[in-house]
Order: sequence, then structure tokens, then C-alpha cells
Amino acid sequence: MNRPIVLYVDDEKANRIVFEQSLASDFQILTAPDGPTALQMLEQQEVAVVVTDMRMPHMNGEDLLRVVKERWPHIIRIVVTAYSDIDPILRAINEGLVARYILKPWVRAELVQVLRWAIEASALGRDSAEVHRRLLETERLATLGSISALLVHDLRQPLAAIIGNIELLDALKELAPTLREALRHVELDARTRKSATARLDELGSILGDMRTASELLSTMIGNLRDLSRPRDASETGVVADPMQVVRHAMSVCQPLAINLHAQIDYHGPRQLPRVRMSPTELTQVLINVVTNGAQAVAARGGEQGHVHIAARETGGMVELQVRDDGVGIPPDVLARIGTPFFTTRSEGTGLGVAQCQRLVGTAGGRFRIESEPGKGTIVTITLPTAA
Ligand SMILES: Nc1ncnc2c1ncn2[C@@H]1O[C@H](COP(=O)(O)OP(=O)(O)OP(=O)(O)O)[C@@H](O)[C@H]1O
Ligand SMILES: [Mg+2]
Repeated sequence: MNRPIVLYVDDEKANRIVFEQSLASDFQILTAPDGPTALQMLEQQEVAVVVTDMRMPHMNGEDLLRVVKERWPHIIRIVVTAYSDIDPILRAINEGLVARYILKPWVRAELVQVLRWAIEASALGRDSAEVHRRLLETERLATLGSISALLVHDLRQPLAAIIGNIELLDALKELAPTLREALRHVELDARTRKSATARLDELGSILGDMRTASELLSTMIGNLRDLSRPRDASETGVVADPMQVVRHAMSVCQPLAINLHAQIDYHGPRQLPRVRMSPTELTQVLINVVTNGAQAVAARGGEQGHVHIAARETGGMVELQVRDDGVGIPPDVLARIGTPFFTTRSEGTGLGVAQCQRLVGTAGGRFRIESEPGKGTIVTITLPTAA
């Protein structure tokens, strides 16, 4: 029998037995109790897929994967892990060590599906490096999807708390006229009175901004959740007015940009044809890109920098270009941008560009980043216009 081999590495014997017994009818399974043994087996026979546990004595999963990637790059690498181990997993995904991770306890049907995919991918990889690269790219997005499901779960709660508090502050806003009146009757120095009155007057617009921001967050969480599902049918056939989106995204990014000493401006026509993408999604893309630009300006330091947005219509497409004069991106970083959770910023999630690529890609558009370290970055988004 010449079926492709799946090598399963786990220090717990019970796990190895369960894995082998439940999958032996569909695949040719080998098992190893630790990394060094696995490597010995790989020297002796041709293996298509390595599935490994992360926490193991002698050599942990991450180190094993690193060696396998180095020595047998065409072997598809998969990790089986617990949610609590998510940190090493994210590192492994960032380094391109694994194509897929599976959460414990795993479900047989899911595992069978993943292994079938992996075997196919490894066979294709042997034939063509290009096909292999594209397959892994698609898989990367699927991985992003499953991790998003976990994130969504964790983000919901704090967002609900913020929205609840906005409602409470709304009640305070209703009282603003009364409070303003009351201020006139208390003893206060002129400066305090002036600033207290000013705060009360701003309350409405601050709350408005908070509401807009939390609605956007809520949409983004929704979109993250959608990564693990097919697109909502109601979102297909939707069109956006790019100018309206640009204006909205600019106003949302303005406060952040001011903090980061970046000036945002727009050059281009006042009117553009509508594009085949939902306004929420396009807004999200622009906000991500403009935010990255402003952050790059801040990272460069020094005086005020710029984030220019330009737009034009070209051959049935609308091209939006966001150019910043920030730090720029070194080639090794540029190659990894868009990998889920790849970030160089301490507060970054590293989901921005991955999300943009996915949204623009599913809308039938293109998303490109060019950069020159020390000079700045140009992001070009091309979208098909609506008929
Ligand atoms: N305009 C830019 N200039 C310089 N570096 C950039 C730019 N855009 C993206 N990057 C680099 O790409 C990385 C990934 O960007 P991405 O937007 O995906 O994640 P992030 O900004 O780090 O986090 P977040 O999820 O909060 O957006 C950034 O950490 C940064 O190193
Ligand atoms: Mg970002």
C-alpha cells in the first residue's frame, strides 16, 4: 500500500492511540512520542503531513516544526493544541511554521477534512512551488478565520460594557441644561466654570463619537466573526460611494491622526463612480490603512507627517491610494505583512492588513503595498465599479 503518511507526534500515549485508531481507516498513520524520534522517522521515510502537540518534553512542538520546515519544506505542518496554548501558536503561525492548527479536543470529522486537505497540498507542493504557495496562502486565511472566532468571543464582553456605559452617559447628557444652570449658582473661579461649561456643551458630540466608534467596533467584530463563515448573501451586490467612505474614514481617523502628528488630506475628484463593495467593509479597509499610515508617521518621530489619500477612475476600476511619509517598511517585514497576527507594534493585533486583503479580495479588487524604508509607504486599493 502506498498511501501518503501522516506522522502524529504527542508525548501522551493515550492521545497517540486515539489518533491512530480513529484515523487509521482513512490514512496511513505513524506516531512518535517526542520530537527527536519524529525526526529520526522523517529521515527514514517519506511523510506528507506532520501533526504535532505543542507541549512535549525534550523538544517542544515549536522547535520540532522549525526543523521540519527547514529540512523538509514540502511537508505540511499542523498543530493540535489547547486554547490556553494560543501564544506559541500565534508565534508559529507568524513564523510560517504551521499551516493549520486544530483545537483540542478535536472532532474526527474536522480532522479528516484537514488531513485530506494537507495531503493534497503536500502532493501539489511537490509538483509546483507556486501552487504550494497559493494553497498555503488560502489556508492562512482560513486559519485567520478560526482564530477570529476565539477573538470575537473575547471582544464581545468589553464592547457590551462600553455600549452600556454610553447609554448611562446619555442620561447625563439629558441633564446637561439643568447642570449648566446649576453651575451658575455655585461659587467657582472663572476658569473652572468656563471649562466645566465647555465640557457639558461637548458631551453630546463626545457621546456621538463614542457611539460611532462602538458601532464600528461592533461591525468589525461581526466581520471578524464572518471570517470563519461564508459571506452574508445580503452583502453581495451592495455598492459603496467611495467619496462618502473616504470622507467618513477621514473623520473617524482625525482624532488619532492629530495625536500622532499626522495630517490627513484628500486629493482627487469630488465624485467617483460607485464600487462593488459594501460601505462598511470599505470604511473598515480605509480606516485600517489610514491608521497604519498615521502610526508610521508617529514611529518616524520628528515633525508633522502626512497621510495623503488620492483617488482616480481607471478602466472600469476605482483606485484609492493612501500614501504616508512615515518610517517605511523594510523588505523582510513587507514580506510578512498580512500574515494574521504579524505586527511590529506593541499594541497592534496584526489583523489589519490581513482583514483588508480579505475584504478587498472577496470584493474582486486588489490590495498592494509598496514601501521604501525611511521614505514612506503607498497602499493601492483597486476596486471594480458597479455597472
Ligand atoms: N503604512 C505603513 N508604514 C509602515 N509600516 C506599516 C504600514 N502599514 C503596515 N505596516 C506594518 O505592518 C504591520 C502589520 O500591519 P497591520 O495593520 O496588519 O497590523 P497592526 O497595525 O500592527 O495592528 P492592528 O491589528 O491594530 O492594525 C504593522 O505592525 C507594521 O509593522
Ligand atoms: Mg494596523
